[in-house]
Amino acid sequence: MIVKTDKDLQGILEAGKIAAEVMHKMASRIRPGITTGQLDRIGEEAMKRYGARSAPQVSYSFPGATCISVLPEVAHGIPGSRQIKAGQMVNIDVSVELNGYFADTGMSIPVEIEDPKVHRLCEICLEARDAAIEAAKPGRRINEIGRAVEGVAKSYGMTMIKNLCGHGLGRKLHEAPECILNYYSRQERGRLSSGHVIALEPFISEGPETVENCGYDEWALVVPPGFYVAQFEHTVIVAEDGNILATLLP
Ligand code: CO
Ligand code: CO
Repeated sequence: MIVKTDKDLQGILEAGKIAAEVMHKMASRIRPGITTGQLDRIGEEAMKRYGARSAPQVSYSFPGATCISVLPEVAHGIPGSRQIKAGQMVNIDVSVELNGYFADTGMSIPVEIEDPKVHRLCEICLEARDAAIEAAKPGRRINEIGRAVEGVAKSYGMTMIKNLCGHGLGRKLHEAPECILNYYSRQERGRLSSGHVIALEPFISEGPETVENCGYDEWALVVPPGFYVAQFEHTVIVAEDGNILATLLP
């Protein structure tokens, strides 16, 4: 959506604050032994307390309040009886609806992983996300976002998952622009406007460039085992005088 009124602005900011708080509450409870289902219930209860609803449930009948993906799952993991173990990389993606406004945020969390390369991958992904946010300006082509993400990834010898992308949102979880690529493409010719609400979510990868369906359910998207992938996501309101990060915790 394009934010045009103060009501729109407040609506996105409120939904964004809740998404961020829910995600960080869940992240603070991650430890070996907890199941992804227990983690999801923590998120679901927090949403309820705020009067918000799970956006993937409302929009797509997703079988969970949040997406919790354990590598080699990269996205859209269904929470359930799986216990999180030390040494696993977990991604929590939280999107909520409040009063008809949607916000979306996500983060990858190395659970008791010592290997510095995994922490480095997370830092590179954060840098790529921030470069994406920086590249999103009113009047600019949308493909500047992918160019920025690709530039950061390649400068560290990493690559991007190319069949997962950022997206517009606001009055729905996914709106135009439907796919904001995480790599540069000449074909992506649209432009951003002041007030555009977009979710920017690079997936930075050690090697694989595509995710595939996992084969054991209709949701989880996976890479081949043995590779690390990180994702961080913010809902951003594009503005002339500096973008607003709706899902940044105060
Ligand atoms: Co998300
Ligand atoms: Co998203």
